[in-house]
Amino acid sequence: MRLKDKVMVITGGGSGIGRGTAVVCAREGAQVIITGRRKEKLEETAAEIARENGSVLWITMDIAREEDVKGLFEEVYRKFGKIDILYNNAGIFNTCGRKVADVSTEEFDRQMAVNLRGTFLCCKYVIPYMQMGGGGSIINCSSISGHIGQGNNGVYNATKGGIEMLTKNIAIDYGPDHIRCNTVCPGYVEIEFNREQFASQYGKIASLHPAGRPGFPKDLAYGVVYLASDESLWVTGASFMIDGGYTCGTPAL
Ligand SMILES: NC(=O)c1ccc[n+]([C@@H]2O[C@H](COP(=O)([O-])OP(=O)(O)OC[C@H]3O[C@@H](n4cnc5c(N)ncnc54)[C@H](OP(=O)(O)O)[C@@H]3O)[C@@H](O)[C@H]2O)c1
Repeated sequence: MRLKDKVMVITGGGSGIGRGTAVVCAREGAQVIITGRRKEKLEETAAEIARENGSVLWITMDIAREEDVKGLFEEVYRKFGKIDILYNNAGIFNTCGRKVADVSTEEFDRQMAVNLRGTFLCCKYVIPYMQMGGGGSIINCSSISGHIGQGNNGVYNATKGGIEMLTKNIAIDYGPDHIRCNTVCPGYVEIEFNREQFASQYGKIASLHPAGRPGFPKDLAYGVVYLASDESLWVTGASFMIDGGYTCGTPAL
């Protein structure tokens, strides 16, 4: 087991990539703590893990609320006495599909509050616990959108670009404390939210990925396991493209 006895917090563990990752990480021996706003979604993930005899705890919280984030890590530390791994996976897509001038300031603020500020808050509040424990691994969920421009996606992409820079700076500042910080960068991954779009445009979406298909949550999960485990002790500040080759470049004319 690659994560045996590691205490791992996964934000947004109730659905999509977060759920797939929680299931795989629990299978690898981690004590998984999943968070999100919707209790019923967290319960579904927890039930899936429990069916395989994995160890899981769910905690409802909103990463846009600073007191919730602070309280989350206090509770996890109180229960388990350490926090080894944080997978900052929670995110929203509320500005996707629109050009910058068509996004309201309130929508911009919300997009930032969850994706970038939420990631910042979780890093800020977990780092002292990792320092006390002698180190840890933070994995931030970025995207292909943190690396390339895409039509109609400016504000969402800006949050992911910000996450990339937050990650590299944490890697520099906390390397001496044995805290590593990396990103995973998914291509298009099929989740509940985009199922209709995938159904109507599957061929087009698949063709954007040299691997010939979009991703599934478990494609990301194995990358997270690697970055969470001691196998990647010399990997920090890296952006792990798990994108079916989406960002490789363009095919020959
Ligand atoms: N799917 C893709 O194609 C794709 C591609 C690149 C990157 N990503 C990134 O992958 C990550 C996971 O997204 P996903 O695709 O798996 O979508 P998803 O199924 O919608 O998962 C997002 C999760 O974040 C949680 N969340 C949202 N707002 C929250 C808040 N304020 N507080 C706490 N939790 C919150 C949601 O739970 P609640 O609603 O219950 O709070 C949900 O479980 C995101 O960071 C996303 O940007 C996805």
